[in-house]
Amino acid sequence: MAKKAKRAAARVTKKAAVARRAAAHAKARGAAGATKPSAKRVRAPKKALANKQSMLAAEARAARTAENAARKAEKRSIKTAKRAPAAAVKNGNGHPKPSTRPFGQAGKALDGVRILDFTHVQSGPTCTQLLAYMGADVIKVERPGVGDITRGQLRDVPNADSLYFTMLNGNKRSITIDSKHPKGREILDRLIKQCDVLVENFAPGALDRMGLTWEHIHKLNPRMIVASVKGFGPGPYEDCKVYENVAQCAGGSASTTGFREGPPLVTGAQIGDSGTGLHLALGIVSALYQRIRTGRGQKVLCAMQDGVLNLARVKLRDQQRLAHGPLKEYSQFGEGVAFGKAVPRAGNDSGGGQPGWILKCKGWEDDPDAYIYFITQAPVWGAICDLIGKPEWKTDPDYATPNARLPRLKAIFGTIEQWTMTKTKFEVMDLCNAVDIPVGPILSMKEIAEEPSLRQTGTVVEVDHPTRGKYLTVGNPIKLSDSPCEVARSPLLGEHTEEILGKVLGYSASEVAEIKTSGAITPAEKGARAEAA
Ligand code: COA
Repeated sequence: MAKKAKRAAARVTKKAAVARRAAAHAKARGAAGATKPSAKRVRAPKKALANKQSMLAAEARAARTAENAARKAEKRSIKTAKRAPAAAVKNGNGHPKPSTRPFGQAGKALDGVRILDFTHVQSGPTCTQLLAYMGADVIKVERPGVGDITRGQLRDVPNADSLYFTMLNGNKRSITIDSKHPKGREILDRLIKQCDVLVENFAPGALDRMGLTWEHIHKLNPRMIVASVKGFGPGPYEDCKVYENVAQCAGGSASTTGFREGPPLVTGAQIGDSGTGLHLALGIVSALYQRIRTGRGQKVLCAMQDGVLNLARVKLRDQQRLAHGPLKEYSQFGEGVAFGKAVPRAGNDSGGGQPGWILKCKGWEDDPDAYIYFITQAPVWGAICDLIGKPEWKTDPDYATPNARLPRLKAIFGTIEQWTMTKTKFEVMDLCNAVDIPVGPILSMKEIAEEPSLRQTGTVVEVDHPTRGKYLTVGNPIKLSDSPCEVARSPLLGEHTEEILGKVLGYSASEVAEIKTSGAITPAEKGARAEAA
């Protein structure tokens, strides 16, 4: 019995040590931006130790307490990860034990991350909307009475926020603050202390002119990550204001888009704005991860020129290949047109070295989108020949190999088109997919809006809005199996001002009343200046 009690005592002591280590680890995490350990969880094993009369009972209690604490911690982490470290549930490697909750019920990926969203127009709001989809609490700061300029741009419903705004600002809260008003600055300083990330895409220097320099922010909150979109990185153009198409042109997209005979073209996909917002989101999440180790924030910069170039990198690849000879997969090679010094526009050529082209389908005369993208992928060449009624091409030396086909691609696609024009794009899709030929119907936005599978996956979502009614938006294109995403409508201008002042910043009711009369959260005389992107 004495031996048993000794062993039990040893076990309890070990448990207490584990709890102490967990508490120390949690404390470190707290300093680095995670959560503070719950005093209850750490105290429980100590209490058990104190109970000398019944070591075994104490151990059982300690185990139960730890289990309860773990369960509670998990529950709290769903509400706010800030206050809920998994401190009491570490395994031997110092990592939290895998949650026992069913997937999809353990909160969201960015629970507990609070974003001070100082973004406007498209690039910045794209980024913060994605972070909100991932569970971050995004507080959008807007100019009183005006708000994000896009609220009123391209309006389709009178007196309601535009789709331009609503589709880029879902899942956020809105507070109005005049950042140039002394009281407004004080509120912003409080927000800086309460947030993990400040995201902005003002014109170069605008944030500094508000007094929100990196030094100021870092002094108030050394853990704060300051993330910015600018048009250009450091260099000759760093002071320039930039919109989408400027970035597409400066990033190498426009010069490589369009037909050889025509002018450079910008694309419909907003690779400059939304593309850069996406890059910025990755930078922010990486900085949050690094902060767990370092305990401090950092600056994250995404220049729109860089973001576009990153997406156009295959064209920089081709630029270097040009030095070693013509780009054989470009149809101009087959047409015998000489290459110049820079990568040319390649029309609808496939960029990946698998020859492809856009071909007419049944109904093309009336329907501008009755087309299909058809790829003559080498491994399925035989299947293509059989399908289009040209089985002899399988063995004809002029057609049998990819190299033999290169000089005659235009004629080959002409022959395939004779076949696609006898079918609708969806019939072509079905017939080709059945034999593994890669094709893609040209889908109109109408077809995409009505596509049931996109609704089912939550990629296209219908949201209800108090002033404009129902609208469609693009949900989270990134699907996480343990972080569900419910898409919520965008906030009305200043809808959450009082809620944030009181609940997040801790202002009392009388202080809020004072702030209201100070002019810091009510319309200023100056209007906004931004134009549509
Ligand atoms: N309270 C008081 N003033 C505010 C405010 C607030 N809550 N929010 C913004 N402002 C002020 C800014 O301080 C700035 O004033 P300042 O020029 O006196 O310093 C002013 O509003 C305008 O900001 P700015 O960013 O210069 O807007 P703009 O309309 O002149 O330019 C862009 C718009 C998009 C061209 C510019 O912001 C930009 O180049 N951004 C970086 C690149 C980018 O993201 N482009 C893509 C947009 S989709």
